[in-house]
Amino acid sequence: MSQDQNTDKPWGGRFSEPTDEFVERFTASVNFDKRLYRVDIAGSIAHATMLARQDILTQEEGALIIKGLEDIRDEIEAGIFEWSVSLEDVHMNIESALTRKIGDVGKKLHTGRSRNDQVATDIRLYLREAIDSVCLSIRQVQKGIVSLAENEVETIMPGFTHLQTAQPVSFAHHLLAWFEMLQRDFERMQDCRKRVNVSPLGAAALAGTSFPIDRHLTAELLGFDRPAANSLDAVSDRDFAIEFCAAASLLMTHMSRMSEELVIWTSAQFNFIELPDRFCTGSSIMPQKKNPDVPELVRGKSGRVYGHLVALLTLMKSQPLAYNKDNQEDKEPLFDTLDTISDCLKAFADMIPAIRANKDNMRKATLQGFSTATDLADYLVRKGMAFRDAHEVVGKTVAFGVQESKDLAEMTLAELQDFSKDIEEDIFDVLSLEGSLNARNHVGGTAPEQVRAAIKNAKDLLQ
Ligand code: ARG
Repeated sequence: MSQDQNTDKPWGGRFSEPTDEFVERFTASVNFDKRLYRVDIAGSIAHATMLARQDILTQEEGALIIKGLEDIRDEIEAGIFEWSVSLEDVHMNIESALTRKIGDVGKKLHTGRSRNDQVATDIRLYLREAIDSVCLSIRQVQKGIVSLAENEVETIMPGFTHLQTAQPVSFAHHLLAWFEMLQRDFERMQDCRKRVNVSPLGAAALAGTSFPIDRHLTAELLGFDRPAANSLDAVSDRDFAIEFCAAASLLMTHMSRMSEELVIWTSAQFNFIELPDRFCTGSSIMPQKKNPDVPELVRGKSGRVYGHLVALLTLMKSQPLAYNKDNQEDKEPLFDTLDTISDCLKAFADMIPAIRANKDNMRKATLQGFSTATDLADYLVRKGMAFRDAHEVVGKTVAFGVQESKDLAEMTLAELQDFSKDIEEDIFDVLSLEGSLNARNHVGGTAPEQVRAAIKNAKDLLQ
């Protein structure tokens, strides 16, 4: 085969036959990495600016290259740019288009860099923007949670352990637990961003470059905190992407837990809340059904995000320094993780503030299941009984209640006194749901006063 048949490839020089058609398709990434075009062009503009500033390119060459790159960006955004699989990836597609557009000067853009530092720079720029947008979305969900919680401070529901009725809690208190989970997810994303925001540019293929480049300048032009300290590390590691997927996995864990509760609460058996019709779907056979599809899907989508985390960990594992083509496989898991969490957060931001609490049903459920048993035990302790003895007494009282189908507050004083002479008339305040909530009046507790303070803190944080 003649060498001519490989001239479309920027690296075609040393090859004497064209790439196998299957191999071309197998090794290409343009179909999924073209979404990096904007950051790729931004990185190239910063690189060209620096080359001109350092007299590695003339001012005219630099200006011509930058103008050409901007025009290409416009063409891509107008949907008239033609992507070619034979040009492998987003980088070579854009570079080839540049040379077609401005002539041989375009071939100078790649001076002092490699696709290895280029792609590492692109992913970091892309991920940095994505993290900022994910953080905004987390904030939206947190706002939705607080706005719902504000109306539900006095709404009492059973708190559960083992999904068995445990103690009465304010519905707002439960919602604020979700808020806290998301707050940690927010902080994890912010923390991950610090390690993303470091510039690989200038590391070139792996060892740096023989040209007098200014890595501080390109880092600054691209808004990075600093240039990466080691060129081998800069082109090879994708730990920042793994870290992002780990933070995303925990976020999905949290959203799956919220989803699960929404699914349980909307069931006919619980009937604690109502999701708006627009977030549910029906059944093609059972006319009565209103299925909580959105939370179920969010719950289900956690699986693919965990999968992507494991994929990236496995991708990186045992890779020798420096760049290996394996790393091209970082993009699809990363992009899908991003798309998935963005969609899930969007669904939650819209859905949560639209939840309606069925307060009466929540209250009825709390009045069953001996949710104030701990309050009775604490009462006996205050009267001087040791907690373990009080636990025993209340256990017997509950057994009686089960037998008689009576909750504690439904028993007469005489019935209660059969179990302990310490019990007096004031017990009925203690056994009321409001009494139980109000008693837990300390930081982090479910007393309405504390829940109101927690809402205020949450709102301050969201300012
Ligand atoms: N498409 C490649 C990737 O995503 C770009 C870097 C290619 N570098 C190389 N030496 N083949 O990793």
